[in-house]
Parts: sequence; C-alpha cells; structure tokens
Amino acid sequence: MVIKRESDMTEKKTQKEQMEDLVALLANWQALEVEGITFLTELQGTTDNPVLKEILEIIKQDSGQHRRVQQLMIDGLTKQAFTLSPEDVALIWDKLDEHDQLEQATISMAHDARRSAGHPVIRYFLSYLLADEEKHHRMLESLEDIKRNLYPYGW
Ligand SMILES: [Fe+2]
Ligand SMILES: [Fe+2]
Repeated sequence: MVIKRESDMTEKKTQKEQMEDLVALLANWQALEVEGITFLTELQGTTDNPVLKEILEIIKQDSGQHRRVQQLMIDGLTKQAFTLSPEDVALIWDKLDEHDQLEQATISMAHDARRSAGHPVIRYFLSYLLADEEKHHRMLESLEDIKRNLYPYGW
C-alpha cells in the first residue's frame, strides 16, 4: 500500500488535471441530457394533452441544445482551443446590435401580451417566452462586454 505524504495529498491539481475533471463533468452532464431526452419522449407518449406534450417538447429540445453546447466546450478544451477576441465581435457588432433591437422589441411584446392574457396556460407560455427573449438579450449584452474588452484574462 502506498501511503501518500501529507504534501502530496494537499497538493493542488495541475491545470491539466482541472481541465480533465471539467471535461469528465461535462461528459457526465451530456449523459444526463441524453437520458432526459429518452425519458421525456416516453413521457410524451403517456399523455394526450397537447399543453403537456408541448412543455415536454420544449425541455427536450433544450436538452438537445445543451448537449450540443457541452460538446462544443469539450472540443474546445480537448482539441482546438477557443478564441474570441474583441475584434471578432466588433466585426459583426452592428448586425448583432440590430438583432438585439429585435430581441428587445419582443421582450416588450411579451410583457404586453402577458398583461392582457387572462388564461393561466397562455400566461404560462408567455412567461416562458418572456424569459427566453430576456435570455437572448442578455447573451448579446454579454458579447458586448467582450467587445469592450472587459475580460482581460483568459480570452
Ligand atoms: Fe439541460
Ligand atoms: Fe429571441
């Protein structure tokens, strides 16, 4: 039996080990997404209610997207490292900004629609859409932080 010396046990993980741990975690997460997709598909078969079917479909589609993004991160960590410079973002910034105007318009539409909706199922879906549109807006806002070079470390 090898007894580790105290200094070995408290030794910090190397950057490579941390990266490998992260890749393993992302792969486990991916497995859960795939498991979830199978489970939700089976569940959809057990209900005839179109509202419930749609809710399950939304989550299922998101799981597919999550799995794809996790794969992108795994590839970025293990194959070709990511690059995203302020210049990359600046090159298409005008178009991104134009699209962000659209996202913001949909946010106020979702607010208006939810205010005028009385039916709980309509309100439920409008709340979902509102949260999604706000998320799209935030994603573009975060890109602006990159363009403004607010992350001097690691990009
Ligand atoms: Fe997910
Ligand atoms: Fe959107």
